[in-house]
Amino acid sequence: MFIYKLVFENFGVYRGRQEIDFSVSKESPIVLFGGKNGAGKTTLLNGLQFVLYGKRAANIGRTSADHEEFLIEAVHREESDDGESLYQKRKAGVEIEFEAVYDGELARFYVTRSWEKSGSESLTNFPEKLTVFQNGLPSEFLTKNWAEVMEEILPHEISSLFLFDGEKIDQLDRKGMVNNRFNAFIMGYLEEQGVATHFDALLSDNESQVKHLDMIPVECVVRNIATGSLCRRLGVEDGLDLEPPTFEFFLKNDELHDPMINEYHIASFGWATPAEVESMKVQTFRVNEILSKLFADGGMILVDFKLEFGRFSDQLLLGDEFTPDGCRLWDTDTREKLDKDRFRQGLGGVVEAYEEVALRLGVDLEAPIAA
Ligand code: C5P
Repeated sequence: MFIYKLVFENFGVYRGRQEIDFSVSKESPIVLFGGKNGAGKTTLLNGLQFVLYGKRAANIGRTSADHEEFLIEAVHREESDDGESLYQKRKAGVEIEFEAVYDGELARFYVTRSWEKSGSESLTNFPEKLTVFQNGLPSEFLTKNWAEVMEEILPHEISSLFLFDGEKIDQLDRKGMVNNRFNAFIMGYLEEQGVATHFDALLSDNESQVKHLDMIPVECVVRNIATGSLCRRLGVEDGLDLEPPTFEFFLKNDELHDPMINEYHIASFGWATPAEVESMKVQTFRVNEILSKLFADGGMILVDFKLEFGRFSDQLLLGDEFTPDGCRLWDTDTREKLDKDRFRQGLGGVVEAYEEVALRLGVDLEAPIAA
């Protein structure tokens, strides 16, 4: 996807019609934006997401009311001639011109979203108008199906990996630190409770020292509540309490998308011995008991999680990591998701949720690290 032009009309701080040219050449291949706070850097990014994804853009709330409020708030406000008051423009819009592969062919798209205040300021008076042009011609089909078309061009869920600013980079950088410290805390706690792990020491914000294991290529998943792939596979109701908790093995194989396997597969292909299989099950259920209680004390439900084990001389140790990236955690009262599903489902606030989990467990993210 290559962006050529972004146009703002009375959008946020951008007054009147402002065209931003993104065209580059071999000699100058990058466009950089600089500006003081309030100059419109964030507005630019928000506008870019908004023109592409509309209501689904990351900076807008989830409901229709949020969307309408966003439209009202986004319209530029101008000072009156005497400087005494602000008045709002009547019409606002964002336009984008870009090139992308769609339906197997490279095409140039021009997308416009505009909205107009008609009469009173009530929310319902801000209907949004979308028009999509393909290779210079207006397309009724693309206009009608734009959300689906955009999913093919750049899926909304992964757009946040591309359309972000420096603040987001800081946040992503922070996630590594939060997870590293969180994992150290959980591994330490499990050791205290008698579960043998590979974890040795926290070395820095982004490094941990662990024992080198001969990893068993199998993932062990325990589920206390049905959600995620279990519901997709078995068609069971999302949110169902599982009593007793259920257990699944998956093969660690990215190309095959980690398929579910059973103990017979593990034995026939020699991925682990029957004793190791038994030990992995026992240890995973033990971790479930220990951590379910720990998270419950912090007002959270441990919904499900994944563990990996490896051999270290004659021992089977818990390896890999335990962080909100590999488990599901819901707030006990509200069932709000506090784990990687926030990222998977494009809910936003990923790092904030991970920090909240750490805070509730009493993990000190600022604590000095012993040399
Ligand atoms: O996707 P699914 O519902 O099977 O995930 C079950 C649990 O295992 C979730 O907590 C998920 O975060 C974790 N998991 C993981 N790594 C994978 C697959 C699942 O950490 N490759």
